[in-house]
Amino acid sequence: MELTAEQYSKLSRLIYRKLGLLFDEKKAYFLNKRITSRIAALGLNDADEYLFLLGFRDLSGDEMQALANLVTTNETYMFREFDQLAVFADYCLPEVIAARSRTPHRSLRIWCAGCSSGEEAYTLAIIVREVFPESESWKIEITATDIDENVLARARVAEYGDRSVKGVPTAYTSHLTKTATGYRVIPTTASLVRTMKLNLSESQQMKSMRHYDFIFCRNVLIYFDDESRRNVLNHFYDALNPGGYIFLGHSESVGRITSAFRLKKAEGHLLYVKDGL
Ligand SMILES: C[S@@+](CC[C@H](N)C(=O)[O-])C[C@H]1O[C@@H](n2cnc3c(N)ncnc32)[C@H](O)[C@@H]1O
Repeated sequence: MELTAEQYSKLSRLIYRKLGLLFDEKKAYFLNKRITSRIAALGLNDADEYLFLLGFRDLSGDEMQALANLVTTNETYMFREFDQLAVFADYCLPEVIAARSRTPHRSLRIWCAGCSSGEEAYTLAIIVREVFPESESWKIEITATDIDENVLARARVAEYGDRSVKGVPTAYTSHLTKTATGYRVIPTTASLVRTMKLNLSESQQMKSMRHYDFIFCRNVLIYFDDESRRNVLNHFYDALNPGGYIFLGHSESVGRITSAFRLKKAEGHLLYVKDGL
């Protein structure tokens, strides 16, 4: 079964509207393959029936959720893009902790947006535990969000195979314990992370996210177009505390999309910060 050009265009527009994800012609093969197997699994005859189901018979939103789970790309592993994490650990985190220490509030909030199966959120938890020993007496919250329920279920288990953990520096492997099938993040580190379903394209959900010191949204917005990216970044701006940092992936530039954040150079890296500390 192949989608017709019209069916493809209707589906990709629906996905863009609901999820912000852009499926242009170059991704037609990927989308076609996933949708046609979903149509077969549901026992439907063709994509028109599937479009009807999504448009008129999906009151619960369950099928839209199944579609979201299907079309997202979830590639991730621990300590991905190490250089960026190093500048977070060596420069940004100490700066924000020092500023917070001058106030009565012993808390630090990090949002890992588009966390996939959780490796990035637990990486941040390991870094916090390692570079900030007093974290035990602070309130540390790492909110790990994704739209895909399947990956969030895996994030909650916090158990990973060799591929996910191969980048963990030897000095930090004490944060993992061996299990029968892989490695699990130890409870004192894992307890910093809480998972939550959140669609970056849902304004109301985005407005509920506030008072974060750091937002990591790496390798997520590459699947969005500039308009959806700008929307998401504006929400991130509102979600950050003054002096808070935003981290996108290496290939993604905040400055090209919005001028809301101040560009700062530190340790050879370009960082984007919300003014006001
Ligand atoms: C390639 S993974 C990146 C994982 C991790 N941030 C990293 O850099 O290793 C992209 C994640 O973004 C999520 N995602 C895509 N569109 C989203 C949306 N509209 N709302 C929330 N999450 C979304 C996907 O489900 C996927 O798990």
